[in-house]
Amino acid sequence: MFLSLIQKRRSIRRYLAKPVEDEKIEVLIEAALRAPSSRGLNPWEFIVVTERRLLEKLSQARVHGAEFLKDSPLGIVVCADPERCDVWVEDCSIASTFIQLASESMGLRSCWIQIRERLHNETVTSEAYVSDLLGMPPGLRVESIVSVGYPNETKPPHKKEDLRYEKVHHNQYGRSYTTALRAKYPNS
Ligand SMILES: Cc1cc2nc3c(=O)[nH]c(=O)nc-3n(C[C@H](O)[C@H](O)[C@H](O)COP(=O)(O)O)c2cc1C
Repeated sequence: MFLSLIQKRRSIRRYLAKPVEDEKIEVLIEAALRAPSSRGLNPWEFIVVTERRLLEKLSQARVHGAEFLKDSPLGIVVCADPERCDVWVEDCSIASTFIQLASESMGLRSCWIQIRERLHNETVTSEAYVSDLLGMPPGLRVESIVSVGYPNETKPPHKKEDLRYEKVHHNQYGRSYTTALRAKYPNS
C-alpha cells in the first residue's frame, strides 16, 4: 500500500473549498509527532493554520511559490528550535514528509512550501514574515509550510521509465547499479 501511494504521489496545489475534517487533521498531527528525529530530541513544533485570513497572509510569505495557500483549507507550519538540535532541518524535513504521506493516505493532497532560505520581499525573509504573523517566539526557525486539502486537479504519476536510475551507483561511484543488476539476472 505504501509503495502504490508513493508511486502515485504528486505535489498538488489546487484544492476544493471543502475543509479538512478535524479527525484527519488529528491524524496528520499524529504522523508529524511520530516522525523520527535525531537522538529522539523532537526539536520541531507545528502550527496548524485553518483561519482563512492567516492562510491568505501566509500565501504572501514568498515572492513566488506560496500563492496557492490562499485557497488551501489547511497549512501546517513546521518549525524548530535550533538550540535543541543541530540537525533540526533534517528533523523538520522528515516531519514535513510524514505529513505529506499521511495526507496522501487519507485521500488528501499536499504541497511543500519552502520557507527557510527564502524571501518575502527584498528586505524581509520568509521566516521573519511567518514568525511575525503567527506570533512565534524569537529563536524558533521555520522550515516549511505544508499545504493540505482535497484535490481540485489531477496529475499523472511519474512514469517508472522516467526515473533517473543513472543516479544510482553500485559499490563504487560511477558503476551503474542497473547494469550490475542486469548482469546478475540476464534473463529477466
Ligand atoms: C524541499 C522542497 C521545497 C519545495 N518548495 C516548494 C515551494 O516553495 N513551492 C511549491 O509550489 N512547491 C515546492 N516544492 C514542491 C516541488 O516543486 C515538487 O515536489 C517538484 O516540482 C516535483 O513535483 P512532484 O512533487 O509532483 O513530483 C518543494 C518540494 C521540496 C521537496
